Amino acid sequence: MSVVLQISDPHFGTEVPEVVEALARLASALGPDLVVLSGDITQRARARQFEAARAFTDRIGAPLLAVPGNHDIPLMNLWARLTRPYSHHCASFGESLEPSFENRELLVLGVNTTRSRRHKNGEVDAAQVRRVSDRLSRAGTHQLRVVVVHQPIEVKRPQDEPDRLIGHAAAQHAWAVAGADIVMGGHIHLPYVMPLPGLARPMWAVQAGTAVSSRVRRGVPNSVNVLRWSAGDGTCVVEQWDHAGPKQAFELRQATRLNMARNN
Ligand SMILES: [Fe+2]
Ligand SMILES: [Fe+2]
Repeated sequence: MSVVLQISDPHFGTEVPEVVEALARLASALGPDLVVLSGDITQRARARQFEAARAFTDRIGAPLLAVPGNHDIPLMNLWARLTRPYSHHCASFGESLEPSFENRELLVLGVNTTRSRRHKNGEVDAAQVRRVSDRLSRAGTHQLRVVVVHQPIEVKRPQDEPDRLIGHAAAQHAWAVAGADIVMGGHIHLPYVMPLPGLARPMWAVQAGTAVSSRVRRGVPNSVNVLRWSAGDGTCVVEQWDHAGPKQAFELRQATRLNMARNN
């Protein structure tokens, strides 16, 4: 069994200290094989915000895959945004903006969907679709194949459509053909798991809420996702853990068993 902890949109700089501590306790109890940080790591792309985020992920002590979100490039400093938008991100999380992680049971591919010229809207372009498809097509049979983006590859509500990734339809079709199982994202601070219809094989959007930030939507508490993948029988369950209620702890809110290409 492989366990992946998805932490999205922590927006360090607006983190709630007791929620950060609760997440550290959950991560310690889970002992994940991989932590995925799916963007908006910071609130304003400041060096000290990235450093706080890195100090937190170092406490977890698991392998880490981090991609930037729109908040991880400077907003007000136009010069910095256009000339060195990722300098603070890279100083804390490494030079690659499109990192990958691989072991016998997992293939996880990060995609940088931020664009400094338009700041908020995310995009996946043809070259990125091709690069990811090429790698997916060489995945091992036992590997769960996950693509990580920041803005959602699909949305459930019409009002969220402006936040959907530019290029989402082409990416969905190509990545399904190439064998992807899951596309993980964040950005709208709304957790959900949904099958993506009309594709060559079953593929799922797994969206996370904001992990530890005070920037929650009304009625949507802080949350993280936990993926449990059993390569032996091809079962995958996505758990949503919410930080709500009086216990000051993340608690299992719901678990969704994914219908996978492997077991149908
Ligand atoms: Fe965000
Ligand atoms: Fe975002």
